[in-house]
Amino acid sequence: MSSHLQETHRRRTFAIVSHPDAGKTTLTEKLLLFGGAIQMAGSVKSRKAARHATSDWMALEKERGISVTSSVMQFPYEGKIVNLLDTPGHADFSEDTYRVLTAVDSALMVIDCAKGVEERTIKLMEVCRLRDTPIMTFINKLDREGREPIELLDEVESVLGIACAPLTWPIGMGKRLKGVYHMLLDEVHLFEQGKNFTRQDSTIFKGLDAPGLEEALGSQVLADLKDELELVQGASHAFDIEQYLAGQLTPVFFGSAVNNFGVQLLLDFFVAHAPSPQPRSTLGRDIEPNEEKLTGFVFKIQANMDPAHRDRVAFMRICSGTYTAGMKMLQTRTGKDVRIANALTFMASDREIVEKAYPGDVIGLHNHGTIGIGDTFTEGEAISFTGIPNFAPELFRRARLRDPLKMKALQKGLAQLSEEGATQFFRPLMSNDLILGAVGVLQFDVVAYRLKDEYNVDASFEAVSVNTARWVHCDDPRKMEEFKEKNAMNLAYDAAGELVYIAPTRVNLQLAQERWPQVRFAATREHA
Ligand code: G4P
Repeated sequence: MSSHLQETHRRRTFAIVSHPDAGKTTLTEKLLLFGGAIQMAGSVKSRKAARHATSDWMALEKERGISVTSSVMQFPYEGKIVNLLDTPGHADFSEDTYRVLTAVDSALMVIDCAKGVEERTIKLMEVCRLRDTPIMTFINKLDREGREPIELLDEVESVLGIACAPLTWPIGMGKRLKGVYHMLLDEVHLFEQGKNFTRQDSTIFKGLDAPGLEEALGSQVLADLKDELELVQGASHAFDIEQYLAGQLTPVFFGSAVNNFGVQLLLDFFVAHAPSPQPRSTLGRDIEPNEEKLTGFVFKIQANMDPAHRDRVAFMRICSGTYTAGMKMLQTRTGKDVRIANALTFMASDREIVEKAYPGDVIGLHNHGTIGIGDTFTEGEAISFTGIPNFAPELFRRARLRDPLKMKALQKGLAQLSEEGATQFFRPLMSNDLILGAVGVLQFDVVAYRLKDEYNVDASFEAVSVNTARWVHCDDPRKMEEFKEKNAMNLAYDAAGELVYIAPTRVNLQLAQERWPQVRFAATREHA
């Protein structure tokens, strides 16, 4: 096997989807520990310390600064190279969170065993569904009393519409937590608080009849476990790799991230079964990861910490070929050749300049606003990757200027900031309003601050009666004209000049959809 092929096959690029507080940060730390990147585990923690901050800009700055380095964490494990792409979650939740999911080959869903499937998880899973992304599940906080495991699996199946195949099964919970049983390995792994940082043979029993197990668990617990397993094995799905890879079935692990319990079983299974880099669609043809020529797309833009420099880092996922420092790449949207000498790579232990990067890897390209989200880079072929969309915002505010003479500057600022992708802006057909849309509420504070700081524009954001937005398309131009005329009050252009229906209420949107069956209302928009 060529080294390019080998490097590609050993990549595992994924992201964690979860509701805030389910344990994503804690689990990330533990995964990094296994990857030998112990220092990094510390900085994940420090980011968390800043997460409760709201509109305090210093905190924001810090958060932004650290999140450049922790946006992508690469670590080796068992001969594989794992790329964990961060999905900003608390105050820093934004459209980027959704778009990161377009750059991974699989995802890991973390669920709090006391809370079950929560709202943000549902939303993020919808995004995974757009590409049938394979999902593994970790049910966390087993050291606390939670809901019945079987009930949790039922909830995942019914709410998220994905079959569950339990791979480990908890033995007790909360204070009664004794360990987990691994269904495929037929092993019992005992829980020993504070001792689970490495695999220990003394706490692993092969089979339910292994000598010493009854003593370790207690005969009643063991008898109950055997009964329960019989029930579970009868009632739940068996692991099926094809269904997993098709995004139809999720293997489920139970554990406690903070105690590092059950995490290594998850990681072992993950590197063994999660997909290596997958083919990607472009407008013309599919790109195979083992193709020799470099291709990649940009899924996230991050402004530099120092606003005086207007420097940005564009995060590019490599889809095929090999990146070598100093190589020339074609930016297909502009038709321009760019030479990238100092791309960033993201080894978990340190941020450093990369010499080489392979499919599944992410590199950071410095630029001054010349690179946009969705941009494709190649070694010369004029292609454009698809599936890196804008997502309909869920929160809307009207920009209000203190000094009306600053209108031009405001428009320019909003347009440029929305190019970074964390917010979008809309201009209604029937008014001079400028409406900003976001999926995370903190983004309005960020924009207000940066307008002042970088564009010298004093603006605030106030409530506006827009509840949701949909991009509208119609194959029949006459119907479209009619639709536009009748609905002008609720239509706007986005920054790219695309027509958007901005609905004051969900019900209004529903009625419009019923009334205009020929018009498509899309919750995402592909980059042109
Ligand atoms: P997030 O990134 O998904 O938002 O979650 P995070 O890891 O920050 O975890 C949220 C809280 O849940 C933290 O507590 C964390 O310690 C706790 N936690 C994570 N995993 C487990 C677990 O397996 N068992 C228990 N009992 N708790 C867990 P916190 O009080 O917010 O922070 P801290 O001060 O304890 O760090």
